[in-house]
Amino acid sequence: MIQTDDMEFAPRVISPESTAEDGDGEITLRPQTLHEYIGQERVKENLAIYIKASKLRGEPLDHVLLYGPPGLGKTTLSAIIAHELGVNLRVTTGPAIEKPGDLVSLLTSLSDNDVLFIDEIHRLSRAVEEILYPALEDRVIDIIIGKGPSARSIRMDLKPFTLIGATTRAGQLSAPLRDRFGVVQRLELYNKKQLTDIVRRSAMILDIPCTADGAGEIAGRARGTPRIANRLLKRVRDFADVMGDGKITQEIADMALGRLEIDRLGLDSLDRRMLEMIIKGYGGGPVGLETLASAIGEEAITIEDVCEPYLMQLGFIGRTPRGRCATKLAYEHLGYRFHDDGDGGQLKL
Ligand code: ADE
Repeated sequence: MIQTDDMEFAPRVISPESTAEDGDGEITLRPQTLHEYIGQERVKENLAIYIKASKLRGEPLDHVLLYGPPGLGKTTLSAIIAHELGVNLRVTTGPAIEKPGDLVSLLTSLSDNDVLFIDEIHRLSRAVEEILYPALEDRVIDIIIGKGPSARSIRMDLKPFTLIGATTRAGQLSAPLRDRFGVVQRLELYNKKQLTDIVRRSAMILDIPCTADGAGEIAGRARGTPRIANRLLKRVRDFADVMGDGKITQEIADMALGRLEIDRLGLDSLDRRMLEMIIKGYGGGPVGLETLASAIGEEAITIEDVCEPYLMQLGFIGRTPRGRCATKLAYEHLGYRFHDDGDGGQLKL
């Protein structure tokens, strides 16, 4: 059983954040077993062993922290872990747990060995985090009853459970919280072959005729992210249905993605605006994150969490202590001539 509290919404077609449109569709596309899950081989191998060991011993799985860029399958993996363990999954997010009492009622409602999944765990308040420490370490919670001098603390035992925390920003977790996770796994961006397999699998589930080249074209523009690949698949299907014969070919995918202004490498207008600003506005950089964000009218966190991981993977930007720099590859992709004046990495037009 999966229970979900709340979700966030973002408007870009290639935003890796979950949107209302992904909704139930995303859930039906989600693999349910480690065997069905494509990619993240090292993480899967480790988890398979930990799950097996916990079942052999009849004990809950140790607490798990999953981190990495959004859209890579942290929620999916936690549902798979619960499924493989044969227990219930409770899903919530850091910001949804407003008060310590919210967490207390969540923790006390779990059954033996259940999995509690907290997305965006770096956004828990300090007061809520403090409830979590003894819960994770000793399976107890301390509840304060009353106020002022007559306040008393009551200790309550919890049933054995596993917390799975997910975050895009492991660096923002407090050390005491991070230290309480026995299993810490980083999810990586997917390669094109893995994304092609994911698109083909999703097309089969959704009954969308799709050639291998068509799937490859979508995969190549999905910025290493399954959630984006599945969203693009649905948009390309619309074009195939209306402007073709319903089959997704490389030609249809190329035309549809061009119309969505997603270029051959998966960059959209925000990525290009950011790169253009570094190149034309700041001579190739370095430029500080906040300066860059206000220059293009975007939030720094969007640039850092959404644009940069992929642009860095492509080798289009470098991060230096003095700020971001555009690389020769970025200049060439956007059609600019690159000139390195040899001034400590300063890049000019
Ligand atoms: N759908 C979304 N992510 C997936 C994955 N990693 N494997 C298979 N199908 C997926």
